[in-house]
Amino acid sequence: MIAYLIGSISGSYIISKFFLHDDIRQHGSGNAGTTNAMRTYGKKIGALTFLIDFFKGVFGMLVVQALVGESQDLLYISALALVVGHDFPFYMNFKGGKGVASTIGCFSVLGFVYDLIAVCLWNAVAWTTKYASLASIVYYLAVAMLFIVGKNLSLLSAFMVIAISLLGILRHHQNIRRLLNHTESKIGEKK
Ligand code: G3P
Repeated sequence: MIAYLIGSISGSYIISKFFLHDDIRQHGSGNAGTTNAMRTYGKKIGALTFLIDFFKGVFGMLVVQALVGESQDLLYISALALVVGHDFPFYMNFKGGKGVASTIGCFSVLGFVYDLIAVCLWNAVAWTTKYASLASIVYYLAVAMLFIVGKNLSLLSAFMVIAISLLGILRHHQNIRRLLNHTESKIGEKK
């Protein structure tokens, strides 16, 4: 529950609602996340959105760690709860983001090196294709594989990692359709 609530603190929504008197979800892709914040409000707001969503992932995992100690399963269950909070915040009619920055934040606490490798892959795909969504899908696939292969996870924890990855990819279903139709917007494009 605590992880869900921390996850539901949506960087892009808070900035747009309370500082810009707007709703990020009325613009661009309609997503409450870093890419759409950058697309709609520019690089600085995009970066700020990423930092808020990333650090809430870090903060959430540290809070859970402090509460439950090193219980691996509870940490991974909480990571999923935090990402669900970001994707489906109760006070936003359950219409939130796609969980990328929050997942990066959670996984940086749970397995920094594996997360870093997957983030490097995100950057490589984003730079070469200019598609943030494709980079995010690659990140989700890579981070799940790296955690499952590289870490000594229990069955339940491994299942949580797969659930986070699967949820993240499913949240990109409209992007996948647009990628296949060649209508997905590239990084730097305004629509
Ligand atoms: O982080 C979300 C990104 O992968 C896609 O965002 O706004 O293009 O749907 P968007």
